[in-house]
Amino acid sequence: MTTAAAERQEAGYRLLDSEFTQFQGLLYRLAGISLSPAKKALVCGRLAKRIKHHRLNSYGDYFQLLTSGREPQELQIAIDLLTTNETYFFREPKHFEFLRSRILPARRPGSAFRVWSAACSSGEEPYSIAMLLADSLREAPWEIVASDISTRVLERARNGHYAMERTEHIPQDYLRAYCLKGVGRQEGTFMIDKRLRSKIDFRQVNLNEQLPRLGEFDVVFLRNVMIYFDVETKRKVVQRLMAAIKPGGHLLIGHSESLNGVNEELQVVAPSIYRKP
Ligand SMILES: C[S@@+](CC[C@H](N)C(=O)[O-])C[C@H]1O[C@@H](n2cnc3c(N)ncnc32)[C@H](O)[C@@H]1O
Repeated sequence: MTTAAAERQEAGYRLLDSEFTQFQGLLYRLAGISLSPAKKALVCGRLAKRIKHHRLNSYGDYFQLLTSGREPQELQIAIDLLTTNETYFFREPKHFEFLRSRILPARRPGSAFRVWSAACSSGEEPYSIAMLLADSLREAPWEIVASDISTRVLERARNGHYAMERTEHIPQDYLRAYCLKGVGRQEGTFMIDKRLRSKIDFRQVNLNEQLPRLGEFDVVFLRNVMIYFDVETKRKVVQRLMAAIKPGGHLLIGHSESLNGVNEELQVVAPSIYRKP
């Protein structure tokens, strides 16, 4: 039995179709995320513990609680539970190779090289970028902004503390240079070096809202988040991000994603790699 099914069975709550539609609408309004009907079991499983926690009787009661404004922090908890945060170090390695061999050598020297990891999840993506920049740019200045809608994953990202199994795709020389192996009670884990952690500004940003002023970036990573958005939301999100990309800067999206019908301004330079003219 899956964890979600086990939780559901244990809690004994039933999610009605009408209630699922309410949660679908809420998540769309808040985060721009479109939940397909196939996600009903996921919603059911993940929210069951919150119903139990608040000693409520149904998903409908929980929806009421979420939208009543009585427990404002509960909305963030629901978002944290309903977002999918799968990620790993050096995911989609072609992007890192392109950054190293094509983007960095062509950068304008002088000002700091700036990267935004715009749906950073638990931090593996921005730390992968940080390792590459630290290794390639040496003393030259660089900075990374890493953001996500989920405060739960951002906390994990800020900690920079991972299970040893997560090292699988980290190149050996980066492992030696930027990852500290845990000893004693931390055995089986590793920590990202403080020099890298201190250079990343982790902050909560909802891509479905007006974006904060973060300045302009040489590269924006917007990977594996648009899969949860419909075309209209993708269009708005990419349009908002356009202002944050320097002329000549790059936007990187997931290999399974596409900007077809989403944006005409950006030029394709390689699969899933776009350049702002
Ligand atoms: C599957 S992870 C992708 C992580 C990383 N970019 C990668 O490619 O491995 C998707 C992330 O997008 C975040 N997300 C979903 N909707 C968002 C929104 N409206 N604004 C910001 N982040 C969002 C989720 O919280 C999740 O951490």
